[in-house]
Amino acid sequence: MSAQAADIELAKKSTLEQIVQSGTLRVGLEAGYMPFEMTDKKGNVVGFDVDMVKEMAKAMGVKLELVNTAWDGIIPGLLSGKYDIIASGMTINQERNLKVNFANPYIIVGQTALIAKKSADKIKSWKDLNQAGVVITSKLGTTGEQAAKRLFPKATYKSFEMEDQAMLETMNGKADATVYDLPMTSIFYTQHGKDAGMVFLDEPFTYEPLGWAINKGDPDFLNWLNNFIVQIKNDGRYERIYNKWFGS
Ligand code: ARG
Repeated sequence: MSAQAADIELAKKSTLEQIVQSGTLRVGLEAGYMPFEMTDKKGNVVGFDVDMVKEMAKAMGVKLELVNTAWDGIIPGLLSGKYDIIASGMTINQERNLKVNFANPYIIVGQTALIAKKSADKIKSWKDLNQAGVVITSKLGTTGEQAAKRLFPKATYKSFEMEDQAMLETMNGKADATVYDLPMTSIFYTQHGKDAGMVFLDEPFTYEPLGWAINKGDPDFLNWLNNFIVQIKNDGRYERIYNKWFGS
């Protein structure tokens, strides 16, 4: 085979084959999104996504490598081949889907709002967030940020690098509300928000399926992932991991 033909062969290869041949599944994620991926006291990245990809690597018969990456660079990192897949609580939306493929959703979440103690009287429903003078925080480059800008154009939006910073700003009364994905707002509310007198508007006002993202043009990998989801969702593995992180 000529060098050029070899290059073409290689280019055609599914990521799946490359993973199996290299013996390592490289997963891009950004720790900080509870309970999907976060850093424990020992500095290990743990969570729902992490346990799911551990199961994935096991099913492929390969080792797992977690690549912790800043959220705003997570899709570029996939496109440039820094990892094979993104498993980071990523919402499947149409804008991202122009750049990457998503496996079928593994969970559905939605945006919710944490309200500062001082603002509890004026904000009783998520619809009250669309008022002049209301300051809303969320995380840079997330669907929380997109929802805040789209649904509450009359409010002032303030972006943060990390979700806990956005939530602390509201808890400390420097903002009126934080708009973010349901599981994380709920955990923050239970751990800190409740004692600080925050109000949790826990009824989701967006529909957000979360999915694993891979590079486009790779039907073999996509097929493997979709069948893997169906399998774990029905043989007890998904349930066990879900109950571990979301309680039951
Ligand atoms: N679901 C939201 C989004 O896709 C937030 C995900 C944030 N994930 C993370 N690992 N920090 O925009």
